[in-house]
Amino acid sequence: MSIQSENIEKLVERRAKARLGGGEKRIEAQHAKGKKTARERLEMLLDPGSFEEYDMFVQHRCTNFGMEKSHPDGDGVVTGCGTIGGRLVYVFAQDFTVSGGSLSKTMSEKICKVMDMALRNGAPCIGLNDSGGARIQEGIDALAGYGEIFERNILSSGVVPQISAIMGPCAGGAVYSPALTDFTLMVKNTSYMFLTGPAVVRSVTGEEVDQEQLGGASVHASKSGVAHFAASTEEEAIETIKTLLSFLPQNNMETAPFVETTDPVSRMDDALNSIVPDNPNKAYNMYDVIGSIVDDGKFFEVHRDFARNIIVGFAHMNGRSVGIVANQPRELAGVLDINASRKAARFVRFCDAFNIPLVTLVDVPGFLPGTQQEYGAIITNGAKLLYAYGEATVPKVTVTLRKGYGGAHIVMSCKQLRGDINYAWPSAQIAVMGADGAVNVLYAKDIKADPENAKAIFEEKKKEYEDLFSNPYQAAQKGYIDDVIEPRNTRFRVIRALEQLAGKRQEIPAKKHDNLPL
Ligand code: HXC
Repeated sequence: MSIQSENIEKLVERRAKARLGGGEKRIEAQHAKGKKTARERLEMLLDPGSFEEYDMFVQHRCTNFGMEKSHPDGDGVVTGCGTIGGRLVYVFAQDFTVSGGSLSKTMSEKICKVMDMALRNGAPCIGLNDSGGARIQEGIDALAGYGEIFERNILSSGVVPQISAIMGPCAGGAVYSPALTDFTLMVKNTSYMFLTGPAVVRSVTGEEVDQEQLGGASVHASKSGVAHFAASTEEEAIETIKTLLSFLPQNNMETAPFVETTDPVSRMDDALNSIVPDNPNKAYNMYDVIGSIVDDGKFFEVHRDFARNIIVGFAHMNGRSVGIVANQPRELAGVLDINASRKAARFVRFCDAFNIPLVTLVDVPGFLPGTQQEYGAIITNGAKLLYAYGEATVPKVTVTLRKGYGGAHIVMSCKQLRGDINYAWPSAQIAVMGADGAVNVLYAKDIKADPENAKAIFEEKKKEYEDLFSNPYQAAQKGYIDDVIEPRNTRFRVIRALEQLAGKRQEIPAKKHDNLPL
């Protein structure tokens, strides 16, 4: 055999060994936990044959606690680039079979390299996390590695989309990298995220809680909002990443890909003309409205199980990607509270950073009253959404379907908050508050003074108020909305508005950065 052939054979052997990560036994153990390996995950994620791996032969440099005896190639993370649907992405997938996927200095160098390349080449960066956290044997070197990853998360924010999938443990300060990225996905029953695990919780607070209850996918998708998606399986998580990417541009200098549609722009939906119930206290389902106006009824929801009183997600309208924000009258009457404000604000800012126009569907009775909300800083949190809409320079089209009361009307992308085109349905009621509340404030004394006629006074004043404000025309007369439209024609009007706004250019004053109310 020639020297060259021998060398090539050695390379093939070494690659094959590296591909096994921590070895067959540990791969079996990974499978036994219902988890796939880093390479199996990347195979599902990337277009077949598109993966280009970097740093397969990188080894750790640790000499503590016996680490010097073993130097597996790759050091617990598989990194590189590939394509998804033909579009370039950079990826890293932590390999739990090597030292529990724990983060060494060299692992962080590998991850940072692909993050740098993603930023430089304007492509999304996707991290598949499955790690025991900082590699204990490396001490401060491992912590430094996290710092370097966080730095890149921050510098890449708003430049290229960053997506984190949690497919195993993610504990301690390690959780902050996913938290800094744009979207976090978790897998039910096999992944968890927390700053301190159940044992520490027990010793500090005495609280008994298991991993799933403390930081499982369902908890983070519904209670904390840390996770935007909770998938039932790893396969579902990977499919969700692919779908999500199909709505996004590669970077902040591009627009999202156009998706051909046969859904006619002028398709009308008569059902919308009667979807709003006559009784203002009765709910309807905002998903029906969204499904009716977007291309082929396809809506990709983000944060589905968190703050369900507001809906956010992506859709296409005449082939163009849009971000939808909509109050949901079926949950808490569509009221804005702390979580709804945080959820929508983050979504609006993402869309603005990545040139995705915003379509806002309004039916909001106001902010949720009460000590819980006030003590939890609904003022600051509500201001986040206000701020996000106010600073956004992407095209903004708003339709008020029914209630648009008080501060919540202003927050929900109103005309004065740099909304571009604002429509209202004939059922819209744009006012400081609802009729009952208004009459009780304005005529409390009259009603008290004449208890016999209290009901009649109330009804008379209520009618007066409703005639004046419980319609869209006062706002329309003053140009606060641009037109009152027939509900069934909403798809056409919104698409036409978006087309008018396609060339929108709007600046914000030069500044180092803003100081939004965090
Ligand atoms: C080095 C680690 C490790 C770590 C796991 N391993 N975590 N090695 N550093 N952080 C190793 C184990 O020794 C074991 O090696 C292999 O990985 C698999 O781990 P197991 O414990 O056998 O697996 P499992 O039972 O599934 O438990 C997984 C686990 C547990 C829950 C993640 O390993 C664990 O609690 N690890 C420590 C978690 C932690 O406290 N990390 C530090 C967080 S603080 P062998 O050779 O036996 O197979 C942090 C700071 C970040 O990360 C700061 C950022 C600013």
